[in-house]
Amino acid sequence: MAEDGKHDHLAALREMRGRAVLGGGRKRIEQQHARGKLTARERLALLLDEGSFQEFGALATHNVTEFGLADQRYPGDGLVAGFGKVSGRRVAVFAQDFTVLGGSFSEVQANKICRIQDLALAAGIPLIGLNDSGGARIQEGVRSLAAYGEVFVRNVMASGVIPQISLILGPCAGGAVYSPALTDFVIMSEGSSMFLTGPDVIKAVTGEDVTAQSLGGAEVHMHRSGVAHLAAQSEAAALELVKRLLGYLPQNNNEDPPQVAPYDSPDREDEALNALIPDNENEPYDMRVAIAMIFDRDSFLEIHPDFAPNAVVGFARLDGYSIGIVANQPAYMSGALNIDASDKISRFIRTCDAYNVPVITFVDCPGFLPGTDQEFGGVIRHGAKIIYAYCESTVPKISIVTRKAMGGAYVAMSSKQMRTDLTFAWPTAQVAVMGAEAAVRVLYRDDVKNAPDSAAKERELIAYYREKFFNPYRAADVGQIDEVIEPRETRPRLIRALEVLRTKVQQNPPKKHGLVPS
Ligand code: HXC
Repeated sequence: MAEDGKHDHLAALREMRGRAVLGGGRKRIEQQHARGKLTARERLALLLDEGSFQEFGALATHNVTEFGLADQRYPGDGLVAGFGKVSGRRVAVFAQDFTVLGGSFSEVQANKICRIQDLALAAGIPLIGLNDSGGARIQEGVRSLAAYGEVFVRNVMASGVIPQISLILGPCAGGAVYSPALTDFVIMSEGSSMFLTGPDVIKAVTGEDVTAQSLGGAEVHMHRSGVAHLAAQSEAAALELVKRLLGYLPQNNNEDPPQVAPYDSPDREDEALNALIPDNENEPYDMRVAIAMIFDRDSFLEIHPDFAPNAVVGFARLDGYSIGIVANQPAYMSGALNIDASDKISRFIRTCDAYNVPVITFVDCPGFLPGTDQEFGGVIRHGAKIIYAYCESTVPKISIVTRKAMGGAYVAMSSKQMRTDLTFAWPTAQVAVMGAEAAVRVLYRDDVKNAPDSAAKERELIAYYREKFFNPYRAADVGQIDEVIEPRETRPRLIRALEVLRTKVQQNPPKKHGLVPS
């Protein structure tokens, strides 16, 4: 009450807002800091441009009374949500507040997230979710489970329309993992974890001893499972990654990604590229060195850097434009394709295609990795995803064969038939159905066996095969390679080619949806 006996509306609002800002209270905030974690609001302050945050639902609370929850009603109910700006661009955000009932997911949380999802989709702006939660709020039972479903369906409807980025900054357990998994990018901070069934359940069911970290820490999801696209040592660094990533993406699928003012000469030719491919064709080299020399200085943001390192994918800039890069990595497993690399490549191509980012492919691949592990694991259906993704995509596509383009890998890795717009090759390119030794074994088994000097005959036939096929000129001769270029020319050639392709329009036949191999 104010002094004159009237209710002071402004004071009441201010008091409520003040409480909302404190989440679960000062003690809980201290505990959060003691865990080495920031609060939801501190995280949003790091992510968003200063003063840009407009909050919604700050005063919403649950109305559950069982299990002692009547005494535990906090304004906002463990979720801070609203709109803001990142580098001047509008975004929708939500951040789970672990200081309120462990950030546990409630019906109120879901209503707030769904509201933001709906508005983000309507406005055509990216959605960024900061996850830090003990999962479904146990006291709410099925209400909390159904609430997850409401969020999932919106994740799916928004997929490919607005960029969706999930940060994992604490625990993310049980069904809670599926909203992030349905979004475009998952970024984990050190110490966070994601798993479907926790250590206790695993111990009870399988007898295995695991910890949250050994089961679902950033290390696991970056190296083994491929669930996380990026990871960072600290929360602040994870939030910086979001800003960087957004820079390569449009606001929605009807827009082009933002162009930055060119800062690296479009005519720059790096002489060192001409010496990059080793004389010995079986010697490895790092494809990332080529990428660094060709694209705008320091612009490469590698996605999934540790998962399936035999392939390299990521965003970079060419003359200021956002580009998606797909490459084989001869420095790891000779760049052979396998199940994980197929998943990584196909997913990335589809991401670029959804958001109007041209794809440039660098090919140096001896083929698909042979072996029962791969065949039993379904490398056929996984590898098919690469072909599917290239064929289905309508963004500008350019490929450069730097060295080996053998067999299925030649066809799959952005050959002309995959609706690639322009195909280049370096003079070191080798375009053939298979390696020389294997080819001679198939074609000339009897000739080699019956020759007076079998070994000499084999060497001679191998040399003949190599001379015929281990160059780019046959492929150029039949129009499969558009132009053989000096490696150092790659940057200016790509920039000019993309300038032409920028207005490309291509459409697929109308259909409900295709059946992507999976
Ligand atoms: C209600 C929860 C909670 C939950 C944590 N809390 N998780 N309250 N529902 N799911 C509460 C704790 O009781 C505690 O309250 C406070 O949050 C902080 O949690 P701590 O345990 O003290 O924190 P910490 O030691 O850091 O451990 C965090 C944790 C642990 C690993 C997340 O709390 C935990 O294991 N929680 C349960 C995880 C889980 O099984 N969730 C359900 C998953 S199944 P007090 O007041 O004691 O401090 C699921 C199905 C979804 O999500 C299906 C969708 C399709």
